Amino acid sequence: MRILGIETTCDETGAAVLENGRLLSDVVFSQVPLHRAYNGVVPELASRAHAEKIAPVVAAALAPALKKAGRGRPPVDAVAFAKGPGLPGGLVVGAVAAATAGALYGVPVIGVNHLEGHLYACELRDGRRCRLLEFPLLALIVSGGHTELWRVSGYGRCKLLGKTRDDAAGEAFDKVARLLGLPYPGGPEVEKAAARAKGSEIRFPRPLMPGTREFSFSGLKTAVSYYLRGHVAADAGAVSAAFQEALVETLTAKTVEAAKACRVKSIAVGGGVAANGALRASLAAAAAKAGLKTVFVEKRYCADNAAMIALCGARMLEAGAVSRGGCGINPALRLENWGRQV
Ligand code: KG4
Ligand code: ZN
Repeated sequence: MRILGIETTCDETGAAVLENGRLLSDVVFSQVPLHRAYNGVVPELASRAHAEKIAPVVAAALAPALKKAGRGRPPVDAVAFAKGPGLPGGLVVGAVAAATAGALYGVPVIGVNHLEGHLYACELRDGRRCRLLEFPLLALIVSGGHTELWRVSGYGRCKLLGKTRDDAAGEAFDKVARLLGLPYPGGPEVEKAAARAKGSEIRFPRPLMPGTREFSFSGLKTAVSYYLRGHVAADAGAVSAAFQEALVETLTAKTVEAAKACRVKSIAVGGGVAANGALRASLAAAAAKAGLKTVFVEKRYCADNAAMIALCGARMLEAGAVSRGGCGINPALRLENWGRQV
């Protein structure tokens, strides 16, 4: 079975083909250089770039599948696309591409939740899908637009426990980077600057929001901004290290606490911020101390990609959830159950 995945929710145009759990192709056109001049994603520029790049990106991803299928046979058995959450202009481009491929090849089209894609990406190792998730588990999804905790009892059985009330973790990294004059996207830049610092005397608040499963990172960003106003000659490395430490400690404490409370045995971490080495080390150590396993998405699949959309689509097909498909988009899509009761 071969499935084409399409990803256009934010600033990466992606297409990938998954064949019986193995990636046949994985193509991503990153718009990062386009948005860098504006220090963030400009939605109008993003949708135009998606419209321009979607055809060549999908064609490149389909090339090896067309070769394998042979003349006159459809290269894929299904098409999965990210139907939300995301920027409407980009989502429409992905939906139209998916509908076109579905009609052309006469195969079903499945709408996938982009954030669920980030979770199932944890099962990719060296381009292969492996059974790495053990249910029930606690999922931490940390990206530029979202910071959420889910209890997951099986594929397609995700329940939202809490999310950020304001900025997402990646957004906080990006905003602090901007305050420090570092380029977009800020996460990797802040991590690099922090690694150069030799310890830090600065201590920013830990926004723990006790008694809730929610996050709030805008106060932490404001604390950094006030600090910089009072210390014009502050070392960017020391500030980055102190900010990263406060954010990582908060994510770690809240995630491990939630995992213990929901009686799960493992924690899975996905999304762009999951690439952060300090977060990976801190969560792995704290989880191990609490007797919990951790599964992190491979670094190359942390950022947005279509492989994770194909992967989620394949799980949905296996669960017989295709009838939930269609080509509609939903920029504010919430989690929906499609998996079997376990
Ligand atoms: O998942 P993603 O590629 O796109 C969204 O769905 O939002 O996440 C992008 C976010 C950006 O905010 C970026 O700064 C952050 O992930 N990020 C990082 C790192 N690499 C990417 N944050 C912290 N440390 C990193 N190494
Ligand atoms: Zn994402």
